[in-house]
Amino acid sequence: MREDEKFVPPYPTPHKSKLSALGRFIYGRDSWIHTLFEKSYSMQMGHVRTRALDLYVVNDLALVEEITERRSNDFPKHHLQHDILCPLLGSNIFTSNGPTWERQRAMIDPAFAHTRLERSFDTMEAAVNALLHRITAMDLNQPVSVDGLMTHVTADIIFRTILSRQLDEKNAQAIFDNFMRYQDATQKIITCRIYGIPPLFLGRQQRKAAAAIRALLVPLIAARYHEHHADGKDQDDILGTLLKARAPETNEPFALEELCNQVAMLFLAGHETSASALTWALYLLARCPDLQEVLYAEISTAGQLSAVTLRQFSQTRNVFREALRLYPPVSFLPRETVRDECLRDKTVHKGAMVTISPWLLQRHRRVWPQPDTFNPDRFGDPAQASAIRDAYLPFGKGPRICVGQGFATQEAVLVLAAIVRRFRLTPTGRPPEPVSRITLRPRTSITLRFVPRGTS
Ligand code: HEM
Repeated sequence: MREDEKFVPPYPTPHKSKLSALGRFIYGRDSWIHTLFEKSYSMQMGHVRTRALDLYVVNDLALVEEITERRSNDFPKHHLQHDILCPLLGSNIFTSNGPTWERQRAMIDPAFAHTRLERSFDTMEAAVNALLHRITAMDLNQPVSVDGLMTHVTADIIFRTILSRQLDEKNAQAIFDNFMRYQDATQKIITCRIYGIPPLFLGRQQRKAAAAIRALLVPLIAARYHEHHADGKDQDDILGTLLKARAPETNEPFALEELCNQVAMLFLAGHETSASALTWALYLLARCPDLQEVLYAEISTAGQLSAVTLRQFSQTRNVFREALRLYPPVSFLPRETVRDECLRDKTVHKGAMVTISPWLLQRHRRVWPQPDTFNPDRFGDPAQASAIRDAYLPFGKGPRICVGQGFATQEAVLVLAAIVRRFRLTPTGRPPEPVSRITLRPRTSITLRFVPRGTS
């Protein structure tokens, strides 16, 4: 066994017992996973009642399957999720339900042809080469902050795929900073909403951050929209396909506002999650020097990187999958009961929030051996195949499963392979602390040392 196979990366120590309502409010304003207690990781279903909401967390695997797959229409996305993302994304396919979701999905689906793996590889490679240039231009005697770097490369990839444009350093940083502010305000707002407390000035802080992000996107989309409607001009990218999309029943195109919402959603869903996962994956690798050599051996025999060679990097892919297990960027999936339900012999009233949590399921004590240990080899272990099938859902499950799963995996394996090929990573500073807001991120930036291979 390699020494680094015993590595248990940081996560918040669970409380000994369930917190009081006040404790949950105080911890929850900052990060949902910080409210969890020991039994949260072994129980089948948890319940919290507040002044404003009945909230259930479901870990029972048969119920998870029922809610996300078999009866997904009876458990739509919770309206609170729409409310908290609305200032940034308006009405969009991530948070909409029913006929609105069906219409938006039918109009957006053709645009996903641009994320097909062979088609998107060149775009990804160009953005990853730009990333390598940025790294080599840095003073590598100093620790490198990886969160911003990973946000830049993933935002650049999706920006090029949606809009055929590169994203420069200044705008990438502005998006990163404003989304962090948005997440911070949003986590506090949602906790206030759950506890029935007015969020006061937080709404202003949230809207300001949302406006700053939209200000970077909307003028670009509006210019293309007006050009397209004036002379039918389009480009071969996601926005070009969305401009041509027509609603199945009315044959109407997207109005400008709705188009901006869908692009903002695709842009955010398409980079923030990948950036978070890659940041954690690089940290995990930095803590495991032997594993870096295993990946290096896998990657260096491949020659030229391509969509085909990337698929052969099973160990690199398993590092990414294990990073997604330990640090799922979307750590909870909130659903709403549309009528009274009976779940595990409990009456769950209409309007309750029923949450499926990749964070809890993927660390569940009754499902996984050594649930908190970093072990990418578990993905090749037949004894863990059923856990992976039923309790591993970083991309969700059922009809609302992530449409960008293949795209994100290809992009992550490419970024990891490109970095491991050229650098050895070592950790610096204090161990990171995960905090769960809209996505799961380290509380403060993760800094690593990038030592070019071939130097000591
Ligand atoms: C590591 C990267 C990613 C992770 C962990 C992730 C995770 C998820 C999860 C968990 C959901 C389902 C949420 C729920 O059921 O409530 C989702 C949905 C979605 N994701 Fe991703 N995602 C990633 C990358 C991407 C990328 C690259 C794109 C676009 C290119 C994308 C686009 C979407 C869209 C459009 C939906 C909504 C699908 C629908 O409801 O119809 N995601 N994602």
